[in-house]
Amino acid sequence: MHMAKKEKDNLMEKITSLAKRRGFIFPGSEIYGGLAGTWDYGPTGALLKKNLKDLWWKEMVQLNSNIVGLDAAIMMNPKAWEASGHLEAFTDPLIECKVCHQRFRADKEEEIKSHEKGHKEKVEWTEPRQFNLLVKAYLGVIEGKQSEIFLRGEITNGVQVNFKNVLNSTRVQIPFGIAQIGKAFRNEITPGNFTFRSREFEQMEVQFYIKPEEKEGKKWFEYWKKNRMDWYLSLGMRKENLRFRDHADNERAHYARLATDIEYNAPWGWQEFMGIHHRGDWDLKRHQEFSGQDMTYRDAEGETYIPWDIETSAGVDRSMLFLLVDSYREENNRVYLKLHPRLAPYKAAIFPLLANKPQLVEKAREIYDDLKQDLMIAWDDRGNIGKRYYSQDEIGTPYCVTVDFDSLEDKKVTVRDRDTMKQERVAIDELSKYLTEKLSI
Ligand code: GAP
Repeated sequence: MHMAKKEKDNLMEKITSLAKRRGFIFPGSEIYGGLAGTWDYGPTGALLKKNLKDLWWKEMVQLNSNIVGLDAAIMMNPKAWEASGHLEAFTDPLIECKVCHQRFRADKEEEIKSHEKGHKEKVEWTEPRQFNLLVKAYLGVIEGKQSEIFLRGEITNGVQVNFKNVLNSTRVQIPFGIAQIGKAFRNEITPGNFTFRSREFEQMEVQFYIKPEEKEGKKWFEYWKKNRMDWYLSLGMRKENLRFRDHADNERAHYARLATDIEYNAPWGWQEFMGIHHRGDWDLKRHQEFSGQDMTYRDAEGETYIPWDIETSAGVDRSMLFLLVDSYREENNRVYLKLHPRLAPYKAAIFPLLANKPQLVEKAREIYDDLKQDLMIAWDDRGNIGKRYYSQDEIGTPYCVTVDFDSLEDKKVTVRDRDTMKQERVAIDELSKYLTEKLSI
C-alpha cells in the first residue's frame, strides 16, 4: 500500500479519532489535561487488548508443554536492577535545545529536524548525556535513598529471579520457556505517535532457556523469529507491512548478543513492535553474582551449566496500535476494521429490527441471552439498521444479526457479514453453531 505523506498523516488522525470516538483508547487522565505518555483503554479497547493477550497466552502457554506462565511483582528489590545492569545501562542519549530547553533523544534525527524547523533562529544543542529511563518510586514511610525502588523497565527481571523457583516447582527441562504478560514503565524522553512511545505500557514475553552452545543459540533464535512473524501473519496482518530488522553491533541493548526487531510499516515509517533477543547467560549469571544464589541447571546427564536465554518480547500496546492501523478500511462510504474475528471486541451484534415492537425485542433478547454465554455479543436497538451496521463496522464486529417480523414466523434471522456485506438467513437454532464455525473459535 503506497501512500503519500499527507494521506499517512490523515490515516493516523483518523485512527486516533476513531479510537477515542468508539471507546478503544482515551488520553490518560484527560479531564485534568492528561499525563504525557499515558493512555486509558475504553470498553472496546479493553476487549481487543484482552483478546490479544489471551490469544498470545494460549499460543505460548496452553499449546506448548515446555512453556509455563508466571506473574511476578512489578516492584522488586532494587538490587535486581543493579544486577541486571539497568541502573547503569538502561539509558537513552538526551540533548536539550538551547533556545527553548525542550529535551529530545539524540538518536531520533527526524524529531530533531522537525523541532529545528519550528524555530526561526538556528538551533544549538547541548552535548548528549545519558538519561536513565527507570521510573523511581518510594516505598515505606521514609522518603529517601533507603526507600527508593524502581518500577520495572522491562518485565524480564521478575522471570529471571524466579528461574530456580520455576525449576523446583514444575517438571520443565531444558529447553523450556517462562511466559509473562505485564506492565512496564519507562521515563521516555519524548513520548509520542499515539500509544507507540508511552511511559506506561504492557509487554508479552517468553524467556526461553537453552543449552549454552552457539549452534543451539542460533537454532532457537531463528526458530522464534519465524514463529513470531508467523503468529502476526496468522492474526491477519498484511505481509507487506511486516519485516525483520537486525540490530547493528552498536545499537543492541546491554544484555543482547543478537537482536532482531519485527517492524511495522507505520504511517510515520518502519517501527519496531517486538524484538527477539539472544540474552546469553547475562541475566542468570549476574543474578547469581549479585544475590549469591546458585542459578545453574543440572541436566539429565549430570552436566551443570547456566543456560542461555532466547527472549521474545512483544509490546501489547504497539501490537494493538498496528493491528488497528492494518485493519482500517475505507470503502464505498463506509469505514470498517477488518480485525481477525478472534481479536474483534464483539463477535456478533444482535438487533431487533424495530425497538418499539416488543415481540421483536423479546425474541432478539432471547437470542442475545443465549449467545452471550459463550461469545462476547453486542446489543443495539438504537437508530435504523443502516446506522447500526455502520457503528458495528467501525469497531470491527464480524457479524450482525437482525430479528425481523419474518423471524417470528420462519424462526430465522438475517446474518450480515462485515467484510462482504452479504446477508443470509440462518435458522435461530443453528445460529450458535453457525457463528462458532465462522469465527473458527
Ligand atoms: N525485555 C526486552 C525488552 O524490553 P525492548 O525492545 O526494550 O525489549 C520490547 O521492548 C517491546 O516493548 C518493544 O518492541 C515495544 O513493543 C515495547 N515497548 C518498549 N518501549 C515502549 C514504549 N515506550 N511504549 C510502548 N511500547 C514499548
